Amino acid sequence: MKKRIPDPKKIINRIDDLPTLPRTVLKITELVNDPKSSAKDLAMVITDDQILTARLLKLVNSSFYGLPQRISTVTGAIVLIGFDAIRNLLLTTSVFDLFADRNRKKQRKQEEFWDHSLGCAVGAKVIGNYLRHDNIEELFVAGLLHDIGKIVEMMFQPDEFSKVVAAINRENILMITAENKILGYSHAEVGKLLAEKWNLPAKLVQIIAHHHQPNAAGSFALETAIVHLADIFCRALDMGFGGDYKIPPLDSVAWESLKIKTSAIEGIMETMQEEYGDIRLFIS
Ligand SMILES: [Fe+2]
Ligand SMILES: [Fe+2]
Repeated sequence: MKKRIPDPKKIINRIDDLPTLPRTVLKITELVNDPKSSAKDLAMVITDDQILTARLLKLVNSSFYGLPQRISTVTGAIVLIGFDAIRNLLLTTSVFDLFADRNRKKQRKQEEFWDHSLGCAVGAKVIGNYLRHDNIEELFVAGLLHDIGKIVEMMFQPDEFSKVVAAINRENILMITAENKILGYSHAEVGKLLAEKWNLPAKLVQIIAHHHQPNAAGSFALETAIVHLADIFCRALDMGFGGDYKIPPLDSVAWESLKIKTSAIEGIMETMQEEYGDIRLFIS
């Protein structure tokens, strides 16, 4: 079936108010991208913000990193987990804030969405570990942000979004199918625009843009395939709510490229469940 080509300009015009990242996170992203900056520069920006500092230390000391000793300083955290990891961690926690809605009913929906994202993040981490990928932490962030376009639609295009939801309920179709049918584009394209606006690394942009079609992600096809599979596994495990009631189809090219033994699937899913339980405790 031929996919309708969305007009990116149309999307930008409709969502003229894409959320911006907090200044501190932007500054941190800048510093991380600058090869001349030092751990000291980065620590100065972070310690300026008490909330970020507290979060960073909480995350670094959580079971996600499983460090043998307690880390009590920002510089210590930077030295131990590295520049990119710090950027990703802070990005992750700030994104949660950005979309927090005071409306209780909406809040609940968003929490379920985030649980889906968290499930996918954990899945990407576990699959990455199985494949001995060298940047697990980046895969985690990619999983967390893969459906960010859905949150943008929900918050900034509420009328269109309710039409999409109605179509999902009426026809029991995938959200991406409903979006393409009603909007002419999907959360993958919207997420890509947001990721570009935030100057996220090209790899994250590509994963977000192509998580339903990993072989379109060029040199990042492997990482995109990991997130694609994680998305399917976390739905199969009922982690959160991805916005529709169907499990997205597994892309056969992506599956073959990963070379995961069928006998390993059960173990991967069990580990996902364990880690999902742990991580929900500290990230919420
Ligand atoms: Fe998606
Ligand atoms: Fe998803």
